[in-house]
This record gives sequence, C-alpha cells and structure tokens, in this order.
Amino acid sequence: MTIKERVFSGVQPTGNLHLGNYLGAITRFVALQDSHDCIYCVVDMHAITQAVSVWGGPEGLAQNTREVTAAFIAAGIDPERHIVFNQSQVSAHAELAWIFNCVARMGWLNRMTQFKEKAGKHRENASVGLYDYPVLMAADILAYRATHVPVGEDQKQHLELSRDIAQKFNTDFAASAAEAGYEDGFFPLPEPLITGPATRVMSLRDGTKKMSKSDPSDMSRIKMTDDADTIAKKIRKAKTDPEPLPSEADGLEGRPEAKNLIGIYAALAGQSEDEALSQFGGSQFSDFKKALAEVTVELVAPVAAEMRRLLDDPAEIDRVLASGADRARAIAEPIMVDVKKIVGFISSK
Ligand code: TYM
Repeated sequence: MTIKERVFSGVQPTGNLHLGNYLGAITRFVALQDSHDCIYCVVDMHAITQAVSVWGGPEGLAQNTREVTAAFIAAGIDPERHIVFNQSQVSAHAELAWIFNCVARMGWLNRMTQFKEKAGKHRENASVGLYDYPVLMAADILAYRATHVPVGEDQKQHLELSRDIAQKFNTDFAASAAEAGYEDGFFPLPEPLITGPATRVMSLRDGTKKMSKSDPSDMSRIKMTDDADTIAKKIRKAKTDPEPLPSEADGLEGRPEAKNLIGIYAALAGQSEDEALSQFGGSQFSDFKKALAEVTVELVAPVAAEMRRLLDDPAEIDRVLASGADRARAIAEPIMVDVKKIVGFISSK
C-alpha cells in the first residue's frame, strides 16, 4: 500500500504569536497549499502542558485558539480547501499518544533539549504533559499518517523523535501490520520541512536567544497583533552593536544581533542575505532600522487588520474549527481502527 503525501503542522495557542512563528512556520504552511493536502492544527492540548499562567486559563485559551486560527486564515491558509481545526476536538490525538507512550522510551525523551529548556531548574515541578509533549506531537502527525511537517528549526529534534516512534511501532508490530495489508510498515517516517530564509528568528533583545512567545520581555518579539507604532518602537530599541553594517556575510560573524536583523529584513523583503547586505553595507543601524520597520509594518499591518476583522466574529471562527475537526476525524478515525487492530485491541469496528 503506498502512502500519499500529506502535510501536517501545528501552532500552540499560548498567546504572543510572533514574527518567528509567522516567518518560520505559517508562511511555509501557506506555500504548501498548492502542492499538498494540508492539515493545520491549533494544538490546544500542547498549550496546557505549561503553567496555567502561561496559557491564560480557560478564557485565555479559547481566545488564543481563535487568534491562531485567525492568523492562519489572515496569512492566506484556505480552511475550505485544507483542514484547520483545534486538536482537542479530535480524540485520535490523545488515543494515539497513549499508544505511543508505550512505544517511546524514557531515554529518548530524556534527551529532548526543549523539555530541559522549558522545565529549567525546576524539573520536579514540570508537568508530566510537558515531558510527554513530543510524544503527543508524534501522535498529531501520525494520526493522519502525514508525510511532511513544515516547522522552524527548533522543532527538528522533536521530529526526529516522531520518526523514531514511527519506526519502532512499525518494527514492533510488523507482523500484524502486514496481516492488515501494510507490508511496508504502517506509519510513514515523517519528513521535517525546515525551509525558507527565517527558520530561526532570534530575540530583538539578545541575538543568541530565539524569539519566543514566553520571553518575559515583550520588547524581545514583534507580535502579529502589534500596531505600526509598537513595531517601529521595538525595532528602534532592538539591541545592536556599535559598528556599521558590513557589506558581506563574513562580516556578520560574531555579530548575532546584526545577523538577525539582516535576516529578518531579507525574509520580509524577499531578498537573500547577500542582497540585503549589498544594499545596507556601510549604513548605520539607525538608517537600516527605519527600512526594517517599514517592511515589517508593511507585512504585519494587513495581517493584523485581517485578524482583527475575523476575531470580531468568533462564531464564524468556531464554525471553521468545527468543520475542520469533522474532516480531520474522517481521516483519523479509520487510521485509528487499523492501529487498534494492529496493536491487538478488541474493537467492534
Ligand atoms: P509553537 O507554537 O511553539 O511554534 C509554532 C511554529 O513556529 C516555529 N517557531 C519559529 N520559527 C522561526 N523562528 C522562531 N523564533 C520560532 N519560534 C517558533 C516553530 O518551529 C513551529 O513550527 N511543537 C510545535 C507545535 C506542534 C507541532 C505538532 C508542529 C504540536 N504538534 C505536530 C508540527 C507537527 C511548536 O513548536 O509550536
């Protein structure tokens, strides 16, 4: 049985959706729509793995779920042609995650750097869900037998784990999968798509740290809901160094802030890093920052305006999510029937 190419990816509704999420992930989601069947998920079950204060409690979660959905649509994802939904509406994610909990090994999870970063020094206090986060990610992808996963650079290790889980499931259950008609293994090994000019956008306050939703400083990130004045101010105050910009990429070595701002400019202006450097080489940051603020506002303002328009009608957003969930379930349910059969669970279906 051959496996059809299918794209799956997700974004957490933890608030503070930022330019890194947009350039590293959402614009990539948009670009795949013409060539693939795509499923884009607002991963609300992942969001609750962190402290309640991080995701804002029940009201914050619902609001942020609608906000990410609005960002998907405002960025150009078509929820009629493709599937947009929130994870918790499709029970296959949790069911498959349980089975994968019994496939994944503790040693594999112990190596996950994102858990170590997020749990910090208070590991004993982290939720079990945070530790299990990458297993749920594998379930998200494989509940649809998805083959391609567009993500930012920071998710590479999690996707390698998804491949390991798929591989071990295929090996452990090779005989019963073959009996069910899957001679080549039941799950595809999902391929990460880490592409585009901005797979790792860094913080505006510290060019060695990635731009993140959870950074305590709001000045570290450009949010997709920031207005023009806020964007200009954040860019004006972005950390730099005292040297003018170099004209060649070599000159960015050891200058993480300069490299990051040039990278953001190039991604937004549709240029290569070299093109941006040949334009701004020798300039002072103050001049470059004016141009950077301009291209950023040009991109973010229309998306933010469209998000606001969509968020004025929450019932319509909820309708999009419900319709997406119905279509997602229609794909995942027969897959779960086969998974359960392959594992040996007795079922009436
Ligand atoms: P989240 O919400 O943390 O991030 C969403 C997407 O944004 C990318 N990203 C970045 N890209 C470039 N520069 C940055 N500074 C930056 N920060 C974040 C992330 O790589 C991601 O692609 N665990 C996932 C959500 C998820 C998922 C999945 C993804 C849950 N299940 C299944 C793919 C497949 C995440 O990081 O969400």
